[in-house]
Amino acid sequence: MTTQSKASSPSHICVIMDGNGRWAKKRLMPRSFGHRKGVEATRRCVEFFATAGVKYLTLFAFSSENWNRPDDEVSNLMELFMRSLQRYTDELHDQGLRIRFIGDRDQFSDKLCQQIEQSEVKTENNRGMTVNIAANYGGQWDIVNAARQLATRVQEGDINIADIDAQQFASGLVLDDAPNPDLFIRTGGEQRISNFLLWQLAYTEFYFCDCLWPDFDEREMQLAIDEFQRRQRRFGKTGEQVEVAPEC
Ligand code: IPE
Ligand code: IPE
Ligand code: MG
Repeated sequence: MTTQSKASSPSHICVIMDGNGRWAKKRLMPRSFGHRKGVEATRRCVEFFATAGVKYLTLFAFSSENWNRPDDEVSNLMELFMRSLQRYTDELHDQGLRIRFIGDRDQFSDKLCQQIEQSEVKTENNRGMTVNIAANYGGQWDIVNAARQLATRVQEGDINIADIDAQQFASGLVLDDAPNPDLFIRTGGEQRISNFLLWQLAYTEFYFCDCLWPDFDEREMQLAIDEFQRRQRRFGKTGEQVEVAPEC
């Protein structure tokens, strides 16, 4: 693990894109309008961070708890995923970006699953920024999944209980091939994780802003990066240690 006196550029950013409903309500519009505007903000955000040299961008689009919303909002969001993938996959592919979905796909329609797979397969060999879309994702689900995989391997005699360590546990999590996020951003003013990447956020820098997601523009994104670059990441060490030995 590297430590540095001042955080450099984040290579992995994760975002809770919150505030679409309130943005629409303020304009006396239906929540669905806020979600549509939210997609535009998402497109801007992908563009900005890819250009800034970020390697992984993980976006929370639909939580495992969001099924509890009214049926019409849930079906509207599912349709919006479908349409957004159809609309943006080629564009992101042309820019060399990789699209991936993280989350439990079992509850999605066959049509949406096919579209997800198509977007992933089309972009899988691209070398640009990886865009992980967390849909029907929950941090607890992710951890339970990893625990199940380890339990199966123990049962099959593949590994011993004593051999289980954090690294092995993490290999069963959805983002196993990416470094943990450097920067976590949540728009919309709430200061909570809402069951996002519980394990992976162990040493992530948190940034909360009041801006509602559809208003999250390049200026707001730059503010988040600037704030990150002012942080000192210590990973358990003292500030003095980190300043003396920036790359130990
Ligand atoms: C985030 O915006 C989008 C999803 C959860 C899908 P919200 O819909 O939660 O917006 P608010 O928090 O109600 O304003
Ligand atoms: C978190 O936002 C999930 C997404 C942005 C997809 P919520 O709006 O669902 O979070 P809570 O319910 O306010 O914690
Ligand atoms: Mg919300």
